[in-house]
Amino acid sequence: MRTPVIAGNWKMNKTATEAVSFCLELRDRVADIDRVDILVCPPFTALKPVADVLDGSRVMVGAQNMYAADEGAYTGEVSPRMLLDAGCSFVILGHSERRQYFGETDRMVNEKVRVALRYGLKPIVCVGESLEQREKGTTTTVVGEQVRNALSGVAAEEAAGLVIAYEPVWAIGTGRTASPKDAQEVNAFIREVVAGLLGASFAGKVCILYGGSVKPDNARDLMSQPDIDGALVGGASLDINSFIGIITATQEVLKT
Ligand code: 13P
Repeated sequence: MRTPVIAGNWKMNKTATEAVSFCLELRDRVADIDRVDILVCPPFTALKPVADVLDGSRVMVGAQNMYAADEGAYTGEVSPRMLLDAGCSFVILGHSERRQYFGETDRMVNEKVRVALRYGLKPIVCVGESLEQREKGTTTTVVGEQVRNALSGVAAEEAAGLVIAYEPVWAIGTGRTASPKDAQEVNAFIREVVAGLLGASFAGKVCILYGGSVKPDNARDLMSQPDIDGALVGGASLDINSFIGIITATQEVLKT
């Protein structure tokens, strides 16, 4: 039985002060949620204050990126050790915005995944096709390649805690969501690819999320799919009521 994960990717939103006041309220309002793992991924500047506020609560903290080196002369970058020290247990890697605006390649994502795992940070590896690729019918080719490249050289024994997020690029921030059936199909395909790489037992345990315009009113249908184990939520995670709405909808799906 996989515990679903609802993760808020705040992207470049919220100051540390705003993030802390959001998390103080979140912490109290999700105190009774017991079947969903909840995660917020604030910008770097808010990680430590948010982790301090959430310490001892059910809400975990993740970063949105990291650099694949221990330390050194890499101006502007943040290392896995710094993220751990700031209170992170997860790190989003290979988000399509990183790939699109900051030139991240599959190779860089792979390096980051390996370094994150070495440090005991749980990577949330993002994969997904563009609109053009979907229209050309190459979704599974593209997504399969991204998953294989991201996990290249990773063994099942070192990959505990790995999470994969299927985020079709055309559904991010657009209000267009993949239909539950389409998202289920790709998530099931990703699970098969993971089974080929890391074995069926690992693939049966790995959480595969969906991301792209997830809202309280579409969360229930998406989360009811057998291979969708939670959501990576952008815009709707910035508003406390809609984020909690998605968490509650997920918890309710498990009870039905
Ligand atoms: P939206 O939920 O705003 O579409 O963003 C999805 C996303 O990119 C999460 O990582």
